[in-house]
Amino acid sequence: MKSVASIVLAAGKGTRMKSGLIKVLHPVAGLPMIAWPVTAARDAGSDPIVLVIGHQANAVQGVFRGAADIRCAMQEEQLGTGHAVACALEALPGFQGTVLILCGDTPLLRAETLKNMLHYHHNNQAAVTVLTALMDDPYGYGRVVRDPSGLVSRIVEQKDADPEEQEIREINSGIYCMDSNFLFASIREIGNDNAQGEYYLTDLLAIAVRKGLTCLAIQAAEADEIMGVNDRIQLASAGLILRRRINREHMLNGVTIIDPEVTYIDQGVTIGADTTIHPGCHIGEGTIIGCGCEIETGTSISGCRIGDDCHIKAASVLENSELGEDVTVGPMAHLRPGTTLGNKVKIGNFVETKKIIMGEGSKASHLTYLGDAEIGRNVNIGCGTITCNYDGVNKHRTVIGDDVFIGSDVQLVAPVNVGRNSLVAAGTTVTIDVPPDSLAISRIPQINKNGWRLKKK
Ligand code: UD1
Ligand code: CA
Repeated sequence: MKSVASIVLAAGKGTRMKSGLIKVLHPVAGLPMIAWPVTAARDAGSDPIVLVIGHQANAVQGVFRGAADIRCAMQEEQLGTGHAVACALEALPGFQGTVLILCGDTPLLRAETLKNMLHYHHNNQAAVTVLTALMDDPYGYGRVVRDPSGLVSRIVEQKDADPEEQEIREINSGIYCMDSNFLFASIREIGNDNAQGEYYLTDLLAIAVRKGLTCLAIQAAEADEIMGVNDRIQLASAGLILRRRINREHMLNGVTIIDPEVTYIDQGVTIGADTTIHPGCHIGEGTIIGCGCEIETGTSISGCRIGDDCHIKAASVLENSELGEDVTVGPMAHLRPGTTLGNKVKIGNFVETKKIIMGEGSKASHLTYLGDAEIGRNVNIGCGTITCNYDGVNKHRTVIGDDVFIGSDVQLVAPVNVGRNSLVAAGTTVTIDVPPDSLAISRIPQINKNGWRLKKK
């Protein structure tokens, strides 16, 4: 196998996005757009990958921080795609092999397509192979001009095409394989005498033909795949196609997705077989969900690890939390980061948790806030319980032992401990530690004033 390096063009701003954020950093199906073509290039076997960056260069570099195969080439002024590749080659001194050239704004491109293209390029010992597609509406794209025998002779840009060339439906995707010797030798031969005054990378095809080298075009199986994202309409279309691909994979793996068109699962999510996802859920990157779970409608989960047989009821929000097996959450519960729930825990409606550990079989069934707490096994937290964890300056911990029963409407003023097997009576404000096996009660004795209402009238 020949060595393959990739160049990903991403210096442009993406003006048509009308955004403060450059185009290639807009998220698509959970990843910054540029991560998609970079991953495809990597999966097709290329190393290194050179990113041509310009606008918001630091932010683009930040996406790949720590990746050993990524190099960056700065293109200070965007003088055209040919100039961009010339900048990239400075980051590939002495490289011998095949150079794949891609754009940062084609998130739908698959590694398989690049692999096919590389095979075709290598088998035919081509100097240049361009990926093309037939389009019903080719307006705006560069057109592939072929000679009478059908061989590729050059690419002409929309703005430079004569009326006859404008009729050509075979378009340039902007994705190429090039032999490194040809590329290094020819990149400086590109001029900028054209309608846009830019250095067109596409001129390399005519240069290869002039040198008597093999110049080929391979058509993409799906025209969709090479769709470049230029505006927010195309951004949404690309997201839809990626989501369909992701959802399809999960369904083939045994996950029931009741309505895949309205189920939003980011790239990089693992879901076990026989889990059912109801419509309108969003499951974010890094989440792992076990087998046999049920995730009800309108739920949003990000960065969580969820065990087998859990039931997440409607409209719950789970962030960076860890759930054991057979856990029930919601409806309308909010697990904030750092929540760890043991097996068979039950978190009911309108319960909010943050940085807590809750032991096996414990329950907080209604209207409760639990923050900075360590709760043992088989604990019952009554309706309306609040851990008062914040004194305005610092956060304090609440520790509740195994088998404790906390009645309704209890405030636990942290730092405070409730010993194992104790009972805290309804309406109690706990301000001092409760020893094990005890009853804690803090209530003002009730007085009844008989006939009081009648006297008022
Ligand atoms: C280019 C092709 C066209 C093809 C189309 C496919 C050329 C001359 N034309 O046109 O044949 O049909 O892509 O989408 O190559 N970029 C840089 N630095 C630059 C210029 C561009 O990094 O100086 C990057 C852009 O950020 C973008 C990519 O290169 O990611 C393509 O540039 P763009 O200006 O969009 O090319 P098109 O005019 O679409
Ligand atoms: Ca352009």
